[in-house]
Amino acid sequence: MRLEGKIALITGAGSGIGREAAKLFAGEGARVVVADRDAAGGEATVRAVADAGGEASFVETDVASSESVRAAIAHAEERHGGLHVLFNNAGIFPDDDGDPVTTPESVWDRVMDVNLKGVFLGCKHGIPALLRAGGGSIINTASFVAVMGAATAQVAYTASKGGVLAMTREIAVIYARQGIRANALCPGPVNTPLLQELLAEPEARGGPRRALPGLRRRRLRQRDIVPRRRRHHRRLRHSRVAGSTAWPAVALIPHPSAGFRRRRDPRSHG
Ligand SMILES: NC(=O)c1ccc[n+]([C@@H]2O[C@H](COP(=O)([O-])OP(=O)(O)OC[C@H]3O[C@@H](n4cnc5c(N)ncnc54)[C@H](O)[C@@H]3O)[C@@H](O)[C@H]2O)c1
Repeated sequence: MRLEGKIALITGAGSGIGREAAKLFAGEGARVVVADRDAAGGEATVRAVADAGGEASFVETDVASSESVRAAIAHAEERHGGLHVLFNNAGIFPDDDGDPVTTPESVWDRVMDVNLKGVFLGCKHGIPALLRAGGGSIINTASFVAVMGAATAQVAYTASKGGVLAMTREIAVIYARQGIRANALCPGPVNTPLLQELLAEPEARGGPRRALPGLRRRRLRQRDIVPRRRRHHRRLRHSRVAGSTAWPAVALIPHPSAGFRRRRDPRSHG
């Protein structure tokens, strides 16, 4: 078991990709701190980990609040004895995030607070704990849209994820010699509540064709695929890989005649 004796904190682990990562990490022997603002979802993840024979605890956390994130890190150290893996995964994708002209400033601020500042705060409070533990691994969830753009207007979301990529590379360089690796994960579309809301009300995003052009529902990735993808996993656990961006194998890329098409991206590592 590759994470035997390690303590991993996962934000947004009360649902979707974060929950699957909690189960996967626990299955590899880690004790997992489930940090989420949704107590019911977080407790359900703790039960799922326990049912599979793993160990996890829940700490109610708002990643946009410095005090709340500080308390979550303290929970990891006081309850479990340290922190070795920090997975900054929580994110939001609100309906009223659209194009630059129509997106309200309040929506821009909220998306930045959770998706970008939330990762910054995780690192701000988590890195000292990783250093106290003698080093460790930071994984930050961005998105394929940060590199490719999205057909759906979602300017705040896309910009926030671009910030996550840039910040991750910077952190990887700063801490490379102190035993901390930082890498970013760029999932493609994954079948989680975050995307299901969009599919349930495509009109809110300009109609079904605009919302997910060229992507049939049955082709959506299941949520457990992201943390399990072999090449992502191999790269992220490799002891010398830092500052990398793990890509989906297939994503939506711009095409002059059709707008957007599903294509294998040649730069993909997924
Ligand atoms: N689903 C996709 O298609 C997709 C694609 C690319 C990237 N992502 C990214 O993957 C990450 C996980 O997304 P998911 O699809 O599993 O979504 P999800 O909605 O299933 O889970 C997100 C979790 O984050 C939590 N959360 C939201 N705001 C929070 C806050 N302020 N503090 C603490 N927790 C908070 C939610 O309660 C929820 O449990 C996000 O960063 C998302 O942007 C998702």
